[in-house]
Amino acid sequence: MQESVKEKFNQFRKKVDEGLDKYVEVIYPESIYESMKYSLLAGGKRLRPVMACEIATALGASVEEIIPTACAIEMLHCQSLIHDDLPCMDNDDYRRGKLTNHKVFGESTAVLAGDALLSFAPKLIIDKTPSSVSSDKLLNVLREFFIAAGVDGIISGQIVDIDSEHKKISKETLSFIYEYKTAKLFKLAVRAGAIIAGATEKQIEDLTKFAEYYGHAFQIYDDILDVTSTLEELGKTPGKDANVEKSTYVSMYGLDEAKKQALFLCNKACDILKSNDIKSDILYGVVSEISEGIGRCS
Ligand code: IPE
Ligand code: IPE
Ligand code: MG
Ligand code: MG
Ligand code: MG
Repeated sequence: MQESVKEKFNQFRKKVDEGLDKYVEVIYPESIYESMKYSLLAGGKRLRPVMACEIATALGASVEEIIPTACAIEMLHCQSLIHDDLPCMDNDDYRRGKLTNHKVFGESTAVLAGDALLSFAPKLIIDKTPSSVSSDKLLNVLREFFIAAGVDGIISGQIVDIDSEHKKISKETLSFIYEYKTAKLFKLAVRAGAIIAGATEKQIEDLTKFAEYYGHAFQIYDDILDVTSTLEELGKTPGKDANVEKSTYVSMYGLDEAKKQALFLCNKACDILKSNDIKSDILYGVVSEISEGIGRCS
């Protein structure tokens, strides 16, 4: 990513970080709020909320109008990570370079912290979005949120992912997992940003296609890093996928072919931006982070 684009990315990221800290106050019962804040403020690239900020502002909304929704999207993402790391799921000890939520607070608190974030997030959208955003838009954004969070989104991806361990699955099933567990959240980010800005149906559809290609490429890159990276670089334990014979692009196609497919999807994502005249240096930038990252992997 170019330096100037990184700078813009970091400005949005700072606003998201400030929002996450401000919106969640530690009150009684402290342990649940502390557990929520631990995961929310543990770092992370903030890709999804920054993408929402970028699209909303590029299409004419103010940053104040999108920040509550952007923070809510990051809360949903954090919830999915807390639950994904649980012993009954991927059983991970590290996340974002720190111990996972259940390792610090215990399993029951981690389950509840995830649940709490999941309901805190849509309430935040309702309570904190400025009144300049119409109720119709808010209703549409909430609908998108529930699609991504529920069985139309992450949950169906995660159940098929877990059910596919130690098994041979079809290419279609693998693609379903990536679409639902990963791409749906990126779709939420761009669609919510576009809705808040009052984008046209065509603009929303173009961005959705972008998120589909990008989301698939992103998950393949995550799988590639799982076999090529270290704990220090990743902030989470590498080699986990092979340990449980997780079905991934790497296990199905091999490392080289997985890289090729991710690069192909990155090109497709950029084609969508170009052919539909979507002017967003941040969207081009996040795609280049994947393609350049793959170039460095061995
Ligand atoms: C991790 O997402 C979960 C996947 C979909 C692979 P990120 O790589 O965006 O995680 P953070 O937010 O930067 O920690
Ligand atoms: C992430 O898939 C999907 C989620 C919905 C959290 P992974 O299980 O590969 O993500 P990491 O590698 O633990 O971040
Ligand atoms: Mg997982
Ligand atoms: Mg995992
Ligand atoms: Mg992974």
